[in-house]
Amino acid sequence: FTLDLLLILVAYLIGSISFAVVVSKCMRLPDPHSYGSGNPGATNVLRTGNKVAAGLTFLGDALKGFLAVVLARAILGDPPMNVYLHSWALCGVVIAVFLGHLFPVFHGFKGGKGVATACGILFGINPILGIATLSTWIIVAVFLRYSSLAALAAAVFGPIYFVFLFGFEPMAIALAAVCILLIWRHKSNIQNLLNGTESRIGSKKSKA
Ligand code: G3P
Repeated sequence: FTLDLLLILVAYLIGSISFAVVVSKCMRLPDPHSYGSGNPGATNVLRTGNKVAAGLTFLGDALKGFLAVVLARAILGDPPMNVYLHSWALCGVVIAVFLGHLFPVFHGFKGGKGVATACGILFGINPILGIATLSTWIIVAVFLRYSSLAALAAAVFGPIYFVFLFGFEPMAIALAAVCILLIWRHKSNIQNLLNGTESRIGSKKSKA
C-alpha cells in the first residue's frame, strides 16, 4: 500500500515538470504564460514561431505521461494486461501524472491543458490505443487546423477506443476522468470555437 502511494506521489511530481516552461527557459524564449493563450503547452510555444521548441515541449510532456505509466508497471512487476487494467494503483498513477501537469507543484500550480501528457499516458497503457487516439488528433488537426478541436475530438474518442479494445475495466474510468478534466481545461477554447475566434495552428493570438 505504501508503495502504491509512493508511486502515485512520484507520478504527480513527474507530471509537475512543465516542459513548456523548461524548454522555453533553456532556449531563451519568453515564458509561455506571457503570450498567446498564456497556456504552458506545445501549441502555445509554437506561437513563438520556434517549431523545435514546440516539438520538444510536446515530446517532454508526452514522455512524462508515458514514463509514469511504464515505470509504475515495471516497479509493480509489470502485471499482465488484465490485472494491470484493474489495478487501482495504476489508475491512481494515471490520474496523478495528469493532475501534476494541470496543477504543477513546481510552477505555482499553473499548468497546462494536458493534451500531450494524456497522449503519453495512452501510449504507456497500450501503443495501439495511443496510435488510434493520436491519429484522431492528427486527422482533425490536418483538416480543420484547430489544435484545441483536435484535442477535444481525441479526448472523446480515446476512452471509446479503450472500451472497444479492452472492455469496461476500471482503467476506463480513470481515462474518462482524465478526458473530462482535459475538456474542462479547454473551456476557453470551446468558447472561442463557438464564437469563431479560436486561432488556427501556427497562427498567433493575443493573451486570452
Ligand atoms: O493543448 C492545448 C491546445 O489544445 C490549445 O492550446 O494554447 O490554443 O489554448 P491553446
